[in-house]
Amino acid sequence: MQQAPFVAVKGLRKAYVMGTEVVVALRKIDLTIERGEICCIFGASGSGKSTLLNLMAGMEPPTEGEVVIDGQTITQMNENELAAFRRQNVGFIFQAYNLLPTLTAAENVALPLAFCGVEQKRREAAAKSVLQAVGLGDRLNHYPTQMSGGQQQRTGIARAFVTKPKLIFADEPTGNLDSKTTKDIMDMMVGFARRYHETMIIVTHNPDLAAYADRIITLKDGEIINDQTKESVIV
Ligand SMILES: Nc1ncnc2c1ncn2[C@@H]1O[C@H](COP(=O)(O)OP(=O)(O)O)[C@@H](O)[C@H]1O
Ligand SMILES: [Mg+2]
Repeated sequence: MQQAPFVAVKGLRKAYVMGTEVVVALRKIDLTIERGEICCIFGASGSGKSTLLNLMAGMEPPTEGEVVIDGQTITQMNENELAAFRRQNVGFIFQAYNLLPTLTAAENVALPLAFCGVEQKRREAAAKSVLQAVGLGDRLNHYPTQMSGGQQQRTGIARAFVTKPKLIFADEPTGNLDSKTTKDIMDMMVGFARRYHETMIIVTHNPDLAAYADRIITLKDGEIINDQTKESVIV
């Protein structure tokens, strides 16, 4: 018997009702992703990339369809179950970093572990170790406003990886960064994912990022118009 895919998306549809208007963000998405795959979801602004990511991460409910991750149907979970699922399985990296401004780098990175019930000494040690791994061992006590964009995003990467999630989602992770920093951040993010055999789904409208992925899924107007694995990708 064939093994079930790590991520399975079936007949996913999302429509937003805006007063009298209905905006269809995703039409009908069917998709499977294997464990350890680095996937790039590519497409123009408004094509539905963030919506697809948020639905796969269990941050928003679909209008129709199903998302199964590692055998768990997340679209059937209630809010509490979803929150627990995300805590235990999912890391998220945001375009605007989304660090808490009143916490230091080390405190920001340790926070997800607090939600997982890890005691303080172990949280601090783990945060320090991951921040060292992203090259910020000398910035542990800096606040977000005291760091560059690239440093803030490295902190964001450390926060996403500190819980050793199975699945990492990144929504335009380099959207606010210059091209040199973009390369550093992508090398680091994808390097971690490969080293720990983690599955990573990166949303972008930047064609340069496609070079990092095993697979490129292109969306247009809420539909998949292309799905290529590396061998057939021309970069
Ligand atoms: N919360 C929302 N309410 C209403 N419409 C939305 C919402 N989120 C996204 N949309 C619409 O859905 C479409 C896809 O948006 P999005 O997934 O953010 O695209 P992308 O990330 O590719 O830029 C767009 O037309 C957008 O305006
Ligand atoms: Mg988006």
